[in-house]
Amino acid sequence: MAALKINQAALLPKEPRPIISIGAGGIVNDAHQPAYQKAGFKTLGIFDLNQKQAEVTATKFAIPSVYTSLGEAVSQAPDNAVFDVAVPAAALETLLPQLPDAAAVLIQKPMGDSFAQAKTIRAICQDKGLQAAVNFQMRYAPYVLAARSLIEQGAIGEVHDMEIRIKVNTPWHLWHFFEALPRVEILYHSIHYIDIIRAFLGEPSGLYAKTVSSPTSAKLASTRSNIIMDYGNHLRANITTNHGHAYGLKNQESYIAWEGTKGAIKATIGLLLNYPEGKPDAFEYCILQEGQEPGWTTQPISGTWFPDAFIGSMASLMRFLEGSSDQLPTHIDDAFKTMTLVEAAHRSSDAGGVPILL
Ligand SMILES: NC(=O)c1ccc[n+]([C@@H]2O[C@H](COP(=O)([O-])OP(=O)(O)OC[C@H]3O[C@@H](n4cnc5c(N)ncnc54)[C@H](O)[C@@H]3O)[C@@H](O)[C@H]2O)c1
Repeated sequence: MAALKINQAALLPKEPRPIISIGAGGIVNDAHQPAYQKAGFKTLGIFDLNQKQAEVTATKFAIPSVYTSLGEAVSQAPDNAVFDVAVPAAALETLLPQLPDAAAVLIQKPMGDSFAQAKTIRAICQDKGLQAAVNFQMRYAPYVLAARSLIEQGAIGEVHDMEIRIKVNTPWHLWHFFEALPRVEILYHSIHYIDIIRAFLGEPSGLYAKTVSSPTSAKLASTRSNIIMDYGNHLRANITTNHGHAYGLKNQESYIAWEGTKGAIKATIGLLLNYPEGKPDAFEYCILQEGQEPGWTTQPISGTWFPDAFIGSMASLMRFLEGSSDQLPTHIDDAFKTMTLVEAAHRSSDAGGVPILL
């Protein structure tokens, strides 16, 4: 095999467009703005219902304008702006109709708090001709890009197994709004894993799931899930999450693994271990050599999920808008397919397992 070159970085636009940030909450401060600073993308202005929060964020990231209303943000936005919307999903149905027709928009996931909202959001985007993508940025995490790069070079052969396993102690108290929601773990966490499995393996023919609550987060609808995506009898795709592993770091786990006919890859998602401080990521791969014991290579990875992946999701929209790419992988229509699988997972979980014959 030719020497491997492992790409870890997203392609950038030739001419980044100006960004208007709608929302100045946790994820904008922790990931959107740090990513844009790193990539050299300029944010012209910011609006949040919480004006103080918008001002604090503007000061922190040297954003020139703080708008007092969404209308002001829209009227001040240049024609080529990208609206970077990061508000709770329930706000999208009323917010999106107020954006200019045909505007470019990057919408934070999830695409609504329910399947009905996802349909409404898709309809709004279609009716207004929005050039809209959903921020499924995990596809652009440097270790996910590295895995894609290896797989596209044929390094591990044909992928026949993909597994995402999360056993961590997530501090859910950081997000009080989850307590009011009927859907939590799959809609807010496993949605990323469903989306990247789709991105690697395509559309499954069906899905089995069970999602349950945990004594460590009893006020939340669910924080532990098992999801099997059905790709027939020769390809396994599995998501297992347990966000209530309150027994120290020693046996916590957080990884994505790919297995193929010629090798395997394991990417450790450090961010979720000891969240929010996190632990280092790790990227290892094994390429089978005839007559030799399997050996694993550790590949240093530059950057991580938060914030680097957020460069990729914005960059891919900007590249599509400028014509550098004819693909928009997280286009609203593609994101809607991820929402159909979230819906299927809940239907499967509600329906329960196959009754046991007596
Ligand atoms: N990895 C990821 O993709 C990721 C991670 C975290 C959060 N998120 C998503 O990002 C969104 C925001 O999450 P967060 O953690 O920043 O929440 P947050 O509660 O910290 O911030 C939300 C902000 O939105 C503002 N807001 C609410 N409605 C608004 C409206 N109509 N117009 C303008 N501002 C409005 C609030 O005042 C608040 O400042 C959620 O949908 C969440 O699911 C995604």
